[in-house]
Amino acid sequence: MTTANEVFTSKLTVPQFKKLGQFIHSNYGIQMPDSKKVLLEGRLQKRIKVNKLANFTEYIEFLFSDAGQAHELSFFIDAVSTNKTDFYREPHHFDFLRTEFLPNFIQQKNHVKIWSAAASSGEEPYTIAIELNEFIEKNKGFSYEVLGTDISTEILQKASKGIYDEKRVEVIPLHIKRKYFLKSKNKANKTVKVAPILQKNLRYRTINLIAPLVGIPNDFDLIFCRNVLIYFNRAVQEQVINALCAKLKPGGYLFLGHSESTTGIKAPVTQIAPTIYKHTP
Ligand SMILES: C[S@@+](CC[C@H](N)C(=O)[O-])C[C@H]1O[C@@H](n2cnc3c(N)ncnc32)[C@H](O)[C@@H]1O
Repeated sequence: MTTANEVFTSKLTVPQFKKLGQFIHSNYGIQMPDSKKVLLEGRLQKRIKVNKLANFTEYIEFLFSDAGQAHELSFFIDAVSTNKTDFYREPHHFDFLRTEFLPNFIQQKNHVKIWSAAASSGEEPYTIAIELNEFIEKNKGFSYEVLGTDISTEILQKASKGIYDEKRVEVIPLHIKRKYFLKSKNKANKTVKVAPILQKNLRYRTINLIAPLVGIPNDFDLIFCRNVLIYFNRAVQEQVINALCAKLKPGGYLFLGHSESTTGIKAPVTQIAPTIYKHTP
């Protein structure tokens, strides 16, 4: 049964917010402070509408039912997570890749394995793929593979399509854009699609970083885990960083986001530049 108040305003009550917040934190590590109530309410109101439900009471009941867990959970996760990302976000990581890591790495090996562990809508793994393709042009015989993972299946579907508004690629230098992005044939449609060469060595999988990382190889040379730890508390950050280190070869590198660090965290890494860490087991 729903109250008149709920029907009228479709507001998330404090106990409902706490229940959802607890579920989100224990399953996905994401903290839900009171300041996020309005945001969560707004995002879930859209899901109430899509599911043709009347209010939050009905939505929560549906979400925790077998049908909801099977069919709504991925949309719920998508509504909960912040997917903000960009091509060439935090460019010093890609400068490091281009000017320091790859020229040294190729002295010993001709295949590099990279994991983008919070890939969001794909801008990060595609930026990595652009850099690797540029490197291969000058270093024939070199190869790479990128695994892009995220907790949100919805956002990974967008990533694997590789279609973006033209505005999103404005940051990319023109000669790179011309090479790796195809304009829509429909002139009215202001989108671009990534070229097949960027998708060739890229795989996507839904992975929750706070769950056991089953089936993820443990021989990555580089792991990008940027701008996701900020949503976790320190204990969860420590757990995730250590789990990532276990997937990184000794001497491999871990890249974190600009406001993330391993300060106060026990993990087998040594910082070599701002937000760049070397795996030193
Ligand atoms: C702000 S985006 C960062 C995207 C990209 N790494 C960047 O720096 O531009 C954070 C991403 O982390 C994902 N995420 C949140 N919690 C997660 C978890 N427990 N496991 C895996 N991914 C998670 C979100 O779905 C979102 O796409």
